[in-house]
Amino acid sequence: MTYASYLALDELLRLQRPRSKPEHPDELLFIIVHQSSELWFRLILHELDALIGLMEAKDTLGALTSVRRVNALVHIVTGQLSALETLPPQRFAQFRGYLGTSSGSQSVQFRAIEAKSGMRDEHFLQALKQHGEIPLLVKDALEKPTLQQLYDDLLVAHNVTLEQVYSEAHQRPLQMLAEGLLEYEQGFAMWRFLHVQLVERIIGPLTSGTGGTLGSKYLQKTISQRFFPKLWDVRSKFFQG
Ligand code: HEM
Repeated sequence: MTYASYLALDELLRLQRPRSKPEHPDELLFIIVHQSSELWFRLILHELDALIGLMEAKDTLGALTSVRRVNALVHIVTGQLSALETLPPQRFAQFRGYLGTSSGSQSVQFRAIEAKSGMRDEHFLQALKQHGEIPLLVKDALEKPTLQQLYDDLLVAHNVTLEQVYSEAHQRPLQMLAEGLLEYEQGFAMWRFLHVQLVERIIGPLTSGTGGTLGSKYLQKTISQRFFPKLWDVRSKFFQG
């Protein structure tokens, strides 16, 4: 076994295939940031499955450890966007045509992450149907309980309310898990925000996406979506009256 064979480097490094002719010097950057994002998405999905398993088993501390890893991964995939901030608009324009109708909105793994996390609203379900049949990975995720539902089940198992979790000292593990999930939501929203900024920085606020959407206008709408509405709502309870 060698480093190269263990990691299947021969195959891995053959998978970056710029389409532009003559090859545009910036297309490799574009491909690698997208491919590595998909690799991190794969790991995020894997770790979300672990988190879901721990929550189903009502293992609060295990879930807390797990959500910390998920959050570290989301931060990494978000940080990668900065590499594309070095791609100026006129240079992207030189090879954008070679992408055809391919678009990030067709990312099955991204949709599966959203579905596992808890997206169920109309805008999301419409986006899923936009590219025909809903992929199996996403369908499976849609049939399973969301992270919010699993957290609610944990509360039932401990016979406590969300408000008590935040006010009773001995409920601290459940509170820490709620905070970990909230950080996950914030991290994900940060990806959405920086991605829209990137899109506007490169193609501007009015250019349509290659996926045929209204580009950044469509993306702006997704920023306010929440995986854990109850975790946000509970905060206002401490400021009433
Ligand atoms: C040059 C940089 C980029 C540009 C100009 C860009 C542009 C866009 C646009 C215009 C959309 C809206 C859908 C459409 O009509 O095509 C979109 C969606 C999307 N892009 Fe990008 N993108 C860039 C980089 C990335 C990267 C690095 C990723 C990482 C995988 C990514 C993943 C996605 C995903 C997942 C969506 C769907 C988002 C949603 O529906 O909430 N994009 N992108």
